[in-house]
Amino acid sequence: MSRNMDINGERLLSRIRQLGAVGRDAEGRLVRVAATDEDRQGRDLFVAWARSAGLDVHIDRIGNIVAVWQGGANGDADPIMMGSHIDSVIDAGIYDGSSGVIAGLEVITALMEARFMPQRPIAVAAFTNEEGVRYAPDMMGSLVYAGGLDVEEALASQGTDGTRLGDQLHRIGYAGPAEPGFLRPHAYLELHIEQGPILEQVGTAIGVVENLQGISWQRIIIEGVANHAGTTPMQARRDAGVAAARILVFLRDLATRTGGCSVATVGTMRFEPDAINVIPGKASFTVDLRDPDTERLRAAEAELAGFLRDVAAEDGVAITTERLARFDPVVFSPEIVRVLEGAASGRQYQWHHMTSGAGHDAQMMARIGPAAMIFVPSRDGISHNPREFTADPDLVAGANVLLDAVKTLAGK
Ligand code: HGY
Ligand code: MN
Ligand code: MN
Repeated sequence: MSRNMDINGERLLSRIRQLGAVGRDAEGRLVRVAATDEDRQGRDLFVAWARSAGLDVHIDRIGNIVAVWQGGANGDADPIMMGSHIDSVIDAGIYDGSSGVIAGLEVITALMEARFMPQRPIAVAAFTNEEGVRYAPDMMGSLVYAGGLDVEEALASQGTDGTRLGDQLHRIGYAGPAEPGFLRPHAYLELHIEQGPILEQVGTAIGVVENLQGISWQRIIIEGVANHAGTTPMQARRDAGVAAARILVFLRDLATRTGGCSVATVGTMRFEPDAINVIPGKASFTVDLRDPDTERLRAAEAELAGFLRDVAAEDGVAITTERLARFDPVVFSPEIVRVLEGAASGRQYQWHHMTSGAGHDAQMMARIGPAAMIFVPSRDGISHNPREFTADPDLVAGANVLLDAVKTLAGK
């Protein structure tokens, strides 16, 4: 086994590009949304790569793919697990999630080729529905895997398109037999693009992620009265659209007031009947609130609830809310953080401690084992956008840090 082994950068980069070409719609947008045909195409490609590397590929009941290398290690030792997701948002970039899954497979393949003898199995997972775009909550597959959501409840969840997740997983051939959580990680490591501007600002290639902010998702439904746009006096209106707009601006001000520690996003909004000359009788939209501080997140949620009551009274509308996801902030394992620091330093890479603004499967896997993450830079901090980009040398550097960390943990 060579001391300074490296991953195969060419194979890593070409697979990221190959997977990035899979799951495109007629306009060429990347739409590998959970449990769609496009998602299946991506899953099939990853499974084919994992099988061709000689890994045992397991599919669990929520469709999580877990590829395992026993490596001659003692079979019932808990594995070192890596993972991320290959489902995407709508019109996505090619690196979010996929780069972490492919890097995990690359690490295992490089270890096999170097005749590394692990003390414990090593696995890489592609978790179902990390993005939560079609079925809420996000990080659903890893949440079920970690025991945070009952698998039957998850399978019964209804998508924004009225479909049932369980039926869709069955349709795409990924309603597997394995029980979620069938392997408990001795440690869980996730490589992911930063999806923000910090690493680029500090000029560092490696982020060592110590914690991850809390996430609060809800849907807000406003019922007013549809009426004629021309004949209805302003003071007689019960305009669901104006009420929604007031709440949207309130959220922007609420987050700004916290000096940017909180972030608030209204990513989807629908008016009904959605006609130019009809006062909206109904408005429904989603709120994504996040903060690394538990108390501040709770306070923001309470302030929003109070403002909804005020708007309902002042605008004569009825407002109901539906909880879609709620995860407290997560602190990762200091021990695994130190292993990642050591792996980066071992290659003379500068590293930078970070808080993750985005949700990740690692936050769920941290419930069942010591976990931490590696970030690599996102150009201009852009993500969830086809302009998402991470430079090849940074992807290779991140994967080599992952390799060295896994060697350290699997070698013990
Ligand atoms: O929403 C998130 O932070 C993640 O991309 N699912
Ligand atoms: Mn992601
Ligand atoms: Mn994402």
